[in-house]
Amino acid sequence: MSRIAYVNGRYCDQRLAEVNIEDRGYQFGDGIYEVVHLYRGKLVDADRHLGRLERSLKAIRLPSPMPMAALRLVLREVALRNRITEGLIYMQVTRGVAPRDHAFPKTPVPPALVVTCKRIPAYPTNIDNWTGTAITLPDLRWARVDIKTTNLLPNVLARQLAREAGATEAILYDKKTGMVREGAATNFWIVDADGVLRTRHLDHSVLPGCTRDALIAELKADGIAFLEKEFTVAEARNAREAFITSATSFVKPMVKLDGAPVGDGLVGPVSRALFDLFARHVKGNA
Ligand code: PDD
Repeated sequence: MSRIAYVNGRYCDQRLAEVNIEDRGYQFGDGIYEVVHLYRGKLVDADRHLGRLERSLKAIRLPSPMPMAALRLVLREVALRNRITEGLIYMQVTRGVAPRDHAFPKTPVPPALVVTCKRIPAYPTNIDNWTGTAITLPDLRWARVDIKTTNLLPNVLARQLAREAGATEAILYDKKTGMVREGAATNFWIVDADGVLRTRHLDHSVLPGCTRDALIAELKADGIAFLEKEFTVAEARNAREAFITSATSFVKPMVKLDGAPVGDGLVGPVSRALFDLFARHVKGNA
């Protein structure tokens, strides 16, 4: 069965879907995107993702292509038409099609909206088969990475360097301060040498991950202590445990950092507990 995409008001065969070469997303990366996990046919943390989409659109002064309630229906419809129940929904909104000019189009054009859906393997049940490795790299991105823009070149290059190093993720740090920010497409957490669960605080230097936020809500509900406080690359290397979070990684242990084992190089007890906690969240809140 061929995949069905939603493109500017129409559901069409994804192989035949086309984008205008003067789409500002294509030319400038002038757009916003979201990735939502679909579990048993339901959107996981849809309110969080749609809330962030609205905030990102506002931050780059891009009007929403439709009310969020209508968009939610489109997301569901794309999943249904593709007959996908375990998958990822990708949506992107760009500033539309106009003759190339860096400033916004003088005569407003409608934003362009594309939604696609792809199948993923069933939700992981065994954390020991759900591990990865990471390398650290300097963060080369712009100063507002809290906005989820399609302008991802530094993230793309960092992920490629990770892949070439045989690693799953690149963990980006501030070159001036040596402080860790986040992964190329994930948030990053450690259990530090003192046993404290930590992830970097939110500001303009990291994406406020929906998985991060959902996990924090679960930690609070269960009374599990954690710190939203930045840490150095050295602290990450000395950590007992490390893991990444995202809509596609859930809670994924990083058992090696820069070629050396994190802790004893096996999945640690905190990662194991939080993997289970997040699985319960997905299953209960999808
Ligand atoms: N990435 N940080 C960055 C830079 C990201 O791109 C992402 C998401 C996250 C985690 O956010 P969330 O928990 O809301 O997925 C953190 C998506 C999955 C992607 O680009 O494919």
